[in-house]
Amino acid sequence: MCENSWYDQKIGEALAREALEKSNDGLIAFLSTPAAFKALKELEPERKYVYLFNYDHRFGDQYGDIFVFYDYNNPLDLDSKLHHFLDYVLVEPPYLTSQFEEIECKQILKTPNTFINSGAMHKVMYNERQLVPRGFVPTFESKLSNRLTTYINYKSERFGPCAHEFDDDVEE
Ligand SMILES: C[S@@+](CC[C@H](N)C(=O)[O-])C[C@H]1O[C@@H](n2cnc3c(N)ncnc32)[C@H](O)[C@@H]1O
Repeated sequence: MCENSWYDQKIGEALAREALEKSNDGLIAFLSTPAAFKALKELEPERKYVYLFNYDHRFGDQYGDIFVFYDYNNPLDLDSKLHHFLDYVLVEPPYLTSQFEEIECKQILKTPNTFINSGAMHKVMYNERQLVPRGFVPTFESKLSNRLTTYINYKSERFGPCAHEFDDDVEE
């Protein structure tokens, strides 16, 4: 389950609270973000319509039918019953694929979307996806020190303004 890349408790909880507040009691999809999903289940175990999308079947053993098998390599295989029914998405892709970008543009980005990545491709984030970098920098349970950037396509008080300066010519 690659737990050394998991957010620490404080970050997991902040992301879970954001999802609760911005989802309007609707369907929340945690795409490859198990730490925030786990934090939400601890904060509000009875909250309905919360799903963990992941390709690691061990989560299915743990969480039953609130686990949805999902593989970035085949992102369009998303169960059709979920198409257009996502009310809030938190995603940290393990890597970017062109197919995933397609589903993001067509579907995921129509919902309030929090997208966390290394800052790579930040130039296209706003221009093509209307994703704006914010000042919320996730930290990890382990000693991992990768700098991640949080992008959103809606307004959020919690994430604050972004002071980081991106170098347009560098893939971060
Ligand atoms: C991208 S990181 C994000 C973890 C995040 N920082 C957290 O704390 O919740 C690792 C997650 O990506 C998942 N993952 C790796 N490859 C995947 C794939 N091809 N499709 C879907 N999920 C994948 C792993 O199972 C793991 O849960």
